[in-house]
Amino acid sequence: MALIKTSEEIDQMRPACIHAANTLVMIEEYIRPGITTNQINEIVHDYTIKHGATPAPLNYHGFPKSVCTSVNHVVCHGIPADKKIKDGDIINVDVTSIIHGWHGDTSKTFYVGTPKVRAKKVTEIARKALELGISVVKPGATLGDIGHIIQQYVEGEKCSVVREYCGHGIGRVFHEEPQVVHYGKPGAGMALKKGMVFTIEPMVNFGRAAVKVLSDDWTVVTRDKSLSAQFEHTLAVTDDGVEILTLPTI
Ligand code: MF3
Ligand code: CO
Ligand code: CO
Repeated sequence: MALIKTSEEIDQMRPACIHAANTLVMIEEYIRPGITTNQINEIVHDYTIKHGATPAPLNYHGFPKSVCTSVNHVVCHGIPADKKIKDGDIINVDVTSIIHGWHGDTSKTFYVGTPKVRAKKVTEIARKALELGISVVKPGATLGDIGHIIQQYVEGEKCSVVREYCGHGIGRVFHEEPQVVHYGKPGAGMALKKGMVFTIEPMVNFGRAAVKVLSDDWTVVTRDKSLSAQFEHTLAVTDDGVEILTLPTI
């Protein structure tokens, strides 16, 4: 079945996944008040090329840059620009790298300077939401189990889960089956099997779940302008659980 990868194929994905994860470690020291998202884009782009990788976002369905940078109420797919980030902002940096034709996809929300109370709350809830989603992944669990644990936790904290964008299968193709939604019912949906490789990437809004896409056709923002945070890993289902492929080695 197309959804299942052999352990050899998963081994072939490792360099792209590790490179994407290392990029997030590398970029952290540059996430300071006064840097522009275009400068972050250039640093990520150059680091990627220098390591023999290709930035998957560049020209992907017309996306104009090499990384997504989503600041404050931007939910995802923020386009790097000449605007400076400032003290108290939060910024999600979403890196997808291609090596030998295989993709690795991971993102993290960073604090710019000192976080304010709400920024800290939504970011830590998004971090924990991903962790909880990962914790239920094993053969026999279902996609609904992942969505359920994330939704329960996030809504229990009086935040909300974005519905319009989801995790996804990944491999030679950036976005493939299955869709991994971040809400759902226990036991619902497809059962997980050893060899499935997909992302979990919950987008958590401080306010309401509703989003809209700006006129640039990419930037997704919260309708109520509330803050939004996200974390993402690429995962493989193993014999008895899960392996996070996007762990850094630097
Ligand atoms: N990296 C995003 C994801 O997690 C997708 C970005 S598509 C782009 O699936 F074109 F905006 F880069
Ligand atoms: Co993704
Ligand atoms: Co991503």
